[in-house]
Amino acid sequence: MFSFYNGFKGRVSDPFQKSLCGSRAEPLKNIIYIGGEMADNIEYAEEGQSQPDNSNGSWKLLVVDDEHEIHSVTRLALKDFTFLGKGLNIINAYNGSDAISLLEQNPDTALILLDVVMESDDSGLKVVKHIRDNIKNRMVRIIIRTGQPGVAPPKDVVLNYDIDDYKEKSELTSAKLFATIVSAIKSHETLVEQDRFNNQLKQMVAERTKELEAAKKAAEAASNNKTNFLNFVSHEMRTPLTSIIGFTALNKKKFDSIILPTISQPDKKVEKAISQLQSNLDITESEAERLLSLINNILDLAKIESGSVEWASDTVDMKDVFNSASAATSSLFNKKGLTLISSIDEGDFTLIGDKNRLIQVVINLFSNAIKFTDFGSITYSISKKDNKIRCEIKDTGSGIPENMLGKIFEQFAQVSGTSTDKPKGTGLGLPICKEIILHHKGQIWAESKIDAGSCFIFEI
Ligand SMILES: Nc1ncnc2c1ncn2[C@@H]1O[C@H](COP(=O)(O)OP(=O)(O)OP(=O)(O)O)[C@@H](O)[C@H]1O
Ligand SMILES: [Mg+2]
Repeated sequence: MFSFYNGFKGRVSDPFQKSLCGSRAEPLKNIIYIGGEMADNIEYAEEGQSQPDNSNGSWKLLVVDDEHEIHSVTRLALKDFTFLGKGLNIINAYNGSDAISLLEQNPDTALILLDVVMESDDSGLKVVKHIRDNIKNRMVRIIIRTGQPGVAPPKDVVLNYDIDDYKEKSELTSAKLFATIVSAIKSHETLVEQDRFNNQLKQMVAERTKELEAAKKAAEAASNNKTNFLNFVSHEMRTPLTSIIGFTALNKKKFDSIILPTISQPDKKVEKAISQLQSNLDITESEAERLLSLINNILDLAKIESGSVEWASDTVDMKDVFNSASAATSSLFNKKGLTLISSIDEGDFTLIGDKNRLIQVVINLFSNAIKFTDFGSITYSISKKDNKIRCEIKDTGSGIPENMLGKIFEQFAQVSGTSTDKPKGTGLGLPICKEIILHHKGQIWAESKIDAGSCFIFEI
């Protein structure tokens, strides 16, 4: 059996209170007895004397004791209790099982004053175990208040049970009881605050995780769209573009070798049309080639970035790489009348890597140098620095403004007005070079001054 007390009101039905106080509460001889010992404090229990009904704004205190007298004196001792503007809402249980069910009904209980020896010698200790292990209420502060410390020695109890304090009934004067309860409420509040904070954190983490999952899904969907788009581009655009380039070249050839010789004395109109036709065919061819190169570069970069490139891992001699790249760009050098100078140190310049991809890097650096250099020469050098192979490609061209030096390795970053000719390119060559060099665990960067030429350096 248990009774629920809402403060200290006459209406509550505590059999002991009735027996103690009769129809009206007698002064308790100005003495509070807790655990049979006389306490210093002087308190009165008067009929009708009650604490405010502050169950909505009060600290819940569960008093568990099989001695009815203890309940009464506790209530009496705490009748004027207020802390942080809240009074006490005292709940009374007279045995272990009632204590547990009352706590389950009042999970926000701040504090339990718990007797040990009740229906059995260890009833109170079983209550502690049940609260912590089964109900998993870690917020409520538990203060053991026993009259028989010999049955449950403090050292054993404090070490083996998750309790906050151990008091002998005899030592708890009302002042000490007050202090004990205040400090327990404080620590309960700290725990509640921590719990609230933890829950807020958990909620924030859960929300963030949800957002990240949504973002990940969106990114995956975007990535799938990109892959699908790139596959589409690859199949549906590259093939017709190759045909356009092939047929334009064929048209040019047929026009020049078969049609043009048949027109012996063209009038002005025909002459104009012929030159327009030739110019249009040239534009068609070069624009189609530019478009094809853009598509190839986009596909290439996307493939590298998605990690779907199969990299070769062979022994590569950087001298061979430069030889292959200069052979591949020799017509460009000739076209512009630029000379290629090499400066190769003595030594071994082999590494493990993907030869074709490294040739691709040097071809792009050579073609950039050619593209942006109108007079002079292009010099490349191979040397060793700090156990790395250092390659430099230096030109005497237009140079790159300082504020663009870091940007040119980003996609589609092109310097406008670096040459008198409009730059022909897609702005993807250097980002591809960077990816290839990074794959080889190297670094690539540029040094340049406007009108004094540029130097591209990579170390691998
Ligand atoms: N040697 C150089 N001298 C001056 N500017 C250069 C040089 N190399 C690169 N740049 C600048 O960096 C930009 C980016 O070069 P990148 O190779 O990425 O693209 P691109 O050459 O314009 O096009 P493509 O994709 O065909 O290579 C160039 O457009 C140019 O403005
Ligand atoms: Mg380029």
